[in-house]
Amino acid sequence: TIVRLADYRPSDYLIDRVDLDVRLHPTETRITATLGLRPNPAGEPGAPLVLDGDELTLVAIALDGQPTGPGAIEVTPRSLTLHQPPQRPFVLEIETQVNPSTNTKLMGLYRSNGVYCTQCEADGFRRITYFLDRPDVMAVFTTRIEGSRDAAPVLLGNGNPVAQGEAGPGRHYAIWHDPHPKPAYLFALVGGRLGRVGSRFTTMEGRDVEIAVYVEPGKEGRADFALDAVARSMAWDERTFGRAYDLDVFNVVAVSDFNMGAMENKGLNIFNDKYVLASPETATDADYANIEAIIAHEYFHNWSGNRVTCRDWFQLCLKEGLTVFRDQEFSSDERSRPVHRIAEVRTLRARQFPEDAGPLAHPVRPQAYREINNFYTATVYEKGAEIVRMLRTLLGPETFRAGMDRYFTTCDGTAATVEDFLAAFAAESGRDLAAFSRWYAQAGTPTVAVSGTYDAAARTYTLTFRQSLPVVATEAAAGAAPQPLAIPIALGLVAPGGGPVAAASERVRDGVFVLDRAEDALVFTGLDAAPVPSLFRGFSAPVKVEHALTRDERLTLLAHDRDAFNRWQAAQSLAMEVLVVRARANAPLAEEAGTEGAGLAAALATFLDGEALADPAFAALVLTLPGEQEIAQAIGAEIDPDAIWRARQTLRVQLGRDLGPRLLALREALVEPEGAPFSPDAASAGRRALRNAALDLVTAADPQAGTALALGQVENAATMTDRLAALATLSLVPGAAREAALARFGETYRGEALVLDKWFALQAMIPEAGTLERVRGLMHHAAFSLGNPNRVRSLIASFSLNNPTQFHRPDGAGYDLTAEVVLALDGKNPQVAARLLTAFNTWRMVEGGRRLHAEAALRRVAQAPGLSPDVSDIVGRSLAPA
Ligand code: ARG
Ligand code: ZN
Repeated sequence: TIVRLADYRPSDYLIDRVDLDVRLHPTETRITATLGLRPNPAGEPGAPLVLDGDELTLVAIALDGQPTGPGAIEVTPRSLTLHQPPQRPFVLEIETQVNPSTNTKLMGLYRSNGVYCTQCEADGFRRITYFLDRPDVMAVFTTRIEGSRDAAPVLLGNGNPVAQGEAGPGRHYAIWHDPHPKPAYLFALVGGRLGRVGSRFTTMEGRDVEIAVYVEPGKEGRADFALDAVARSMAWDERTFGRAYDLDVFNVVAVSDFNMGAMENKGLNIFNDKYVLASPETATDADYANIEAIIAHEYFHNWSGNRVTCRDWFQLCLKEGLTVFRDQEFSSDERSRPVHRIAEVRTLRARQFPEDAGPLAHPVRPQAYREINNFYTATVYEKGAEIVRMLRTLLGPETFRAGMDRYFTTCDGTAATVEDFLAAFAAESGRDLAAFSRWYAQAGTPTVAVSGTYDAAARTYTLTFRQSLPVVATEAAAGAAPQPLAIPIALGLVAPGGGPVAAASERVRDGVFVLDRAEDALVFTGLDAAPVPSLFRGFSAPVKVEHALTRDERLTLLAHDRDAFNRWQAAQSLAMEVLVVRARANAPLAEEAGTEGAGLAAALATFLDGEALADPAFAALVLTLPGEQEIAQAIGAEIDPDAIWRARQTLRVQLGRDLGPRLLALREALVEPEGAPFSPDAASAGRRALRNAALDLVTAADPQAGTALALGQVENAATMTDRLAALATLSLVPGAAREAALARFGETYRGEALVLDKWFALQAMIPEAGTLERVRGLMHHAAFSLGNPNRVRSLIASFSLNNPTQFHRPDGAGYDLTAEVVLALDGKNPQVAARLLTAFNTWRMVEGGRRLHAEAALRRVAQAPGLSPDVSDIVGRSLAPA
């Protein structure tokens, strides 16, 4: 069935109060739910009450303390209907039984490594008890959790702890009360043997909060970084948005089986342990950065998501886009703003742009869905965050902050919509946001074509902008023609020899021009020479820019622009030009990429000499060529992934050769002093990043010398970052040294699942024909299991989503492997299976031979009997006529 935004109507009944009594048992957990219900004044009087369920077994039910009469209710595993509910407040007491041990979907109540835990977003609560499982039904929850003292000494719930005690032989209980009304998707409980690290935080309102992180016993030492990130997040949200925490405790629990990254349950955030556990020996700098960002993300949801929640799931971006924006800002403040911005844009271009260009394209606020769990996408999250960022660029930081305050104040305690969000900013700014609001409604990445002309006689410079929006098949079917968007363009002019240009246009305010019609032109006056335009500074809008800058103009920007993002962008586009030309021409692997390649190398040499040591993290990014997926997007159609790989490899070889001595000198200059204490901070991470980027390029040009360096680094590295980076470099050089190093690494970390995940991923991404067999072999590794989402992501998704040459093997075997795993997984965990299947997103873009194989694999999936709604939705949309 398809759910449509246009069909929204309020619930006929509301639930104000929920008392849950959960008796934990490995296979027969009993839940008694006492629901305080009443008819919704906004609903239909006398309507039947239909509660949601999913694989539930009803044990008992009572209405206002009495058994329900014959025929009064109808019960299936998927729903419980009360035909004639009282038209006054009433109480339903419902007892259900569930089996947490066989719950392989990891939705509802399940066990992970023996720990009882829950995941209820989006629709998991109905797997625990019958309920009005929709986000606009908000209740005050009190939860009694009872379990074995031995198996579950720790019992955690939402809100504040109110009581605990004995519950018969070997059993105990804890009662938690959450005073803040919330939708069921924010419910959570945890029971298990867990280690704890804790500290305190006093809010700006004077509340003394106990914060704690719970992990597998023995791993407490790896939880300190996450604990510190919680405190830093709390302080930042007070400082930046004036938002304080509102309970006496804040708990984070790490579990090893988790479908996504983490979940913002009220007062009890549950995390994939990959995003909690960190030590220098087991976690990379990227892991530290992710942990910090995701801890912040889930904490920030307490206001953007929990205090103000979503009316319905179409509004998912209201909490996710906004909260991603907030976590990005946090990371930018805690680390390096330009470096973080570049990382955000790389992710957007590698993941969201392809999504927006493929068969799964959808607006940031979709109009319809079959399976909501398939809409936790890069579009909703990352493009959703870009929309909030554009709003700030459009309104300026002060008005933006005032709008946020107004939104939080007026919508506090409610289930809101995107309209409510925009209304707060419209009211605060007095602006009409109608054209802007189309960003939420129209799918596809807009293109902005720009041209500049200098008139020497008039001393003017004119920039012409034209926006065009792709017609997205799913939208066109709905009869919608795309309308112009309001696109904020942050820009400036740079003198040909560097330095700013003092030219004005009154339509540029605080460095921002707003393009809000299909075509527009900007005239700058008083110019003595043609300037170089620096456009979309800081990537001020999620668009593709078509701009015919000459090579010299790009070199000017790389050397002189005051916007760091555009300096990086200039280097990227210089490289992209070389890569696209070579890939399109199907050029063979070579030692050098012509005069353009040499020109890029020379520019990078100047750049490195000037400032690599001043900002190593930025320099590492400038040295990193556009990724294979990004190159594929730039080519657009009839893609040959092998040609793309060869083009990229050729340029890497050339850079490694031309820059070799410099790169080796940088490695020396950036060496950590012997015995220096480890720090995961951005500056230290940046030095490691540049050293390792240097190693990577040097090895591309001289595999023998590089292998020797990398082998030494794998052996002697003081951090997992350095060890893994060296192993990744080695993994690209076929031969016995690589195999021995891989084997040794696998042996060393055989008890460390999260480290083995990196090892699985690295092998799955080797761009060689042998990789498919290697992956098949690793599926039999003792540490691998299809039941654990992290294992599937590291071994299988790394192959299918991050190894373009091998996923798109010309013989179709990469597609076959992926389809095979999707089908094997679907019966166990449909959410993870559906996510893996999105690897086929670009199938229509690849050249004909591959395309036929991809389509055949998709059709095989489509025809398999008993598909989950999750997989059937993805495969259906993937195959729908373009
Ligand atoms: N709200 C979570 C977050 O912070 C994601 C939960 C998604 N869960 C799911 N089953 N789709 O992003
Ligand atoms: Zn989120």
